[in-house]
Amino acid sequence: MASLQASCTLFAKPSKSFTYPHFQVSCNAKKPSSQDAETSQVRIDRRNVLVGLGGLYGASNLVSNPLAYADPVQPPDFKKCGNAFDIGTGDPLKVNCCPPISDDIIDYELPPPPHRLRIRQPAHMVGKDYIAKYEEAIRRMKELDKTNPNDPRGFKQQANIHCAYCNGPHDQVGHKDLDFQVHESWLFFPFHRWYLYFYERILGKLIDDPHFALPYWNWDHPKGMTMPPIFDNPCSPLYDAVRDPNNRASAVVDLNYRSSAPTNDLRQVDINLRTINSEMITGVNNNLQFMGAPYCDGSCPRPGMGTLERGSHTAIHIWVGTKDKTGEHKYNEDLGNFYSAGRDPLFYCHHANVDRMWTIWRTLSTPVRKDITSPNYLNAQFLFYDENARLVRVKVANCVDHKKMGYKYHYMPTLWRHYSPPKKQAKARIMEKISDIPKVAAVLPITLKNTVRVLVPKSAKGKVSEQLVIEDIEKDTTKFIKFDVFVNDEDDDLGELDRAEYAGTFAQVPHKTKNKTSKSSISLDLTQLYDYVDVTDDDTIVVTIVPRSNGEDITIGCIKIVPVPSEDEVESNDDN
Ligand code: C2O
Repeated sequence: MASLQASCTLFAKPSKSFTYPHFQVSCNAKKPSSQDAETSQVRIDRRNVLVGLGGLYGASNLVSNPLAYADPVQPPDFKKCGNAFDIGTGDPLKVNCCPPISDDIIDYELPPPPHRLRIRQPAHMVGKDYIAKYEEAIRRMKELDKTNPNDPRGFKQQANIHCAYCNGPHDQVGHKDLDFQVHESWLFFPFHRWYLYFYERILGKLIDDPHFALPYWNWDHPKGMTMPPIFDNPCSPLYDAVRDPNNRASAVVDLNYRSSAPTNDLRQVDINLRTINSEMITGVNNNLQFMGAPYCDGSCPRPGMGTLERGSHTAIHIWVGTKDKTGEHKYNEDLGNFYSAGRDPLFYCHHANVDRMWTIWRTLSTPVRKDITSPNYLNAQFLFYDENARLVRVKVANCVDHKKMGYKYHYMPTLWRHYSPPKKQAKARIMEKISDIPKVAAVLPITLKNTVRVLVPKSAKGKVSEQLVIEDIEKDTTKFIKFDVFVNDEDDDLGELDRAEYAGTFAQVPHKTKNKTSKSSISLDLTQLYDYVDVTDDDTIVVTIVPRSNGEDITIGCIKIVPVPSEDEVESNDDN
């Protein structure tokens, strides 16, 4: 298999208890000898390689077999919920966001879809009656906090759900040293879908309207690229004072916050459309690149965000959250930190669009769009309180088709579909001076204090499907972390993202994990990019990594280019 040549693939030892092939990857690992290759050791190792490529980066079939060793993640045990960790360093802010406890857990069954689906509308287009209803529902939800603070349907309790699933208080059942974390993996889309589902039903119940649907923040359409006005009225219960005062009213949202400072709104809209095009289409060549890395029981989580999670999703969180470090809120609250994000009603509107982007991605007619079939994905479970305050257990499998959950999205045009950058007309001049640029192996690991520019060997010449894999990204989880990646960039203007050389972004919303730092990986698809920048005859490319936020807290251990495995390759490599 061609991928065995990848310079950072290590052949890990499978352990007895190994559930998911959790392997350490080093950039300096060497290929096994052909003799080794005869042993069963290597047969299993090769699975690890398959997961390495397939887990985060391969087609879904690729993962289903290696993951047969693992179990799906179990829902957290609410009775063992601990305090959320201190949020900051040196300034401990203790947060208790544990949910109420209940002895009865019901396996949730979706009610038959209603005759008329609930319709989620773009927030900038909703009418007066709708606004009145929505405000009344939120008012009643906030009222519950006062009348019965333990009611799981209250506003604070609902906000705490996000804190509890994202900031460390829940351990994975049976694994004291592992958080239950719904970001940085394939749980990202399904978890938030279920979260919004119950939140919406609770609001509907509070105003006795079974047709009530949340609005969505249509930030992928130019008309929706400001904060929706209904959330920006200080007299409304939809308002939250803990936001960045500069990013209200007519400020155009920055979906690549904070890569550049565009000089005008049109430039910003342009960058936004290009960003989404890259996250949804040109930067995605298989389903896990979009959905995120596998996550299952035990030590298998090997965090990896999908394109949209680490891109526009993170950007909006940070763009809205406060930047004021002097007051009571120092950690980008509310939207800009996972522990507090759910306290802003805008959170649910933002995530409705994230959810809508998943529905659109599933309909894009590309050969790579496929639902994940691994049982470890489909059988992963979460606990929520439903609109009748019953504790229910839900499965990922039951949320894949949103219409079965009884709602749909009001159509809005998706201008970003055809928003790919113009092709480069000439070969990059940078290729003439590559003797000045260090080879990747010579500089790793490297801390992103400054822009890093390295030569990375391609796995093959000619027209190939390849991905740039950046692994062992060690970062401080409590901070907003961000870097952008370019290929064969001529250093024209690293603030310009809407051009052929832009390969993608890594951006993380601050949160707390068991350890202050955590490791992550990303895969940036190069297939389309190779077509934009002329590299067909090259065997090496220049990768430029530009730190945008807290670069001194980011260390990168591995950068490599490997083929994107095709499904045929997958099947022929599958021993079982
Ligand atoms: Cu759970 Cu947008 O975060």
